Amino acid sequence: MAIELSWEIPMPEDMEGLEALLNRVAEACFAAEGITSAGFCVQIVDDEAIRALNRNMRNIDSATDVLSFPTVNYPAGKTARDCPKRMAREFDPGLGCINLGDCVINLNRARQQADEYGHSLKRELSYLTAHSAFHLMGYDHMNEEEKRQMRQMEEKALGAIGITRQEDGIGFDRLFELACEAMQMSYSPYSHFKVGACILAEDGRTFKGCNFENASYGATICAERCAAGNAIINGARRFKAIAVVGSTAVAWPCGICRQVLREFSDTSLPVIVGEFGKGYTVKTLGELLPEGLSPEDLGVDVNA
Ligand code: THU
Repeated sequence: MAIELSWEIPMPEDMEGLEALLNRVAEACFAAEGITSAGFCVQIVDDEAIRALNRNMRNIDSATDVLSFPTVNYPAGKTARDCPKRMAREFDPGLGCINLGDCVINLNRARQQADEYGHSLKRELSYLTAHSAFHLMGYDHMNEEEKRQMRQMEEKALGAIGITRQEDGIGFDRLFELACEAMQMSYSPYSHFKVGACILAEDGRTFKGCNFENASYGATICAERCAAGNAIINGARRFKAIAVVGSTAVAWPCGICRQVLREFSDTSLPVIVGEFGKGYTVKTLGELLPEGLSPEDLGVDVNA
């Protein structure tokens, strides 16, 4: 067994098979690093417990998502594969392998992040376990280069067992469902036409928006632009899909929203449009906005 899982809070119902899954995750991380005969402990806790731990151990008073406590003291710039002797010193007869340390996961945050990314809790727990495994093997993300390397290793390991954080499986159905949820928040006392939108960003996160009207009618903001603002303030600038739903008719995006979407996506953006309770159709942004003005037209490289 590569991990030993313990629940410090009651185990939710749908968690059967989690230990086997996290074992596979840990094994994949070790294989990506090129080490064998290692293991670590995974503890699942809640907001309160991780906050106390973070405060006591790191002097940071916040309920983070995951904390890692490595047993091996890796020299700067070195990771597990470079340190066989230091690793061997941590052989734990109880575990029957090298004990890399402890991974503590906050279930509350894991749930939140799973919702944010539109994937399952098990998938998020897999991701957090892999992230921690690499910390326990000497990786860190103090600067951009370290962060890139760590991310690359995580992707290599999780990719090898078919898990990616960028959940392609979110699908149009789920995105449309999230738009329907957003629609419930609409502020539309003038038109009584509720609109909800949900953007899937390139990094896999989803951002909701709803229309909000104004006594000065022209000051109204559409659901799509509300969602776009929500994405931008959260650092997501490339969009992979958008779903839009209207309460009593199909909510075709208005011209301004089509143009706003073009800023953060190319013309292949799937636009999933429908009416609440009646399903949806899918168009590309290029179909809805032929010849739209793009950042490239003004010589701006949005990736720079
Ligand atoms: N609206 C949207 O939110 N998105 C669209 O794609 C079309 C129109 C809103 C604006 C206004 O609050 C109401 O629908 C009626 O135009």
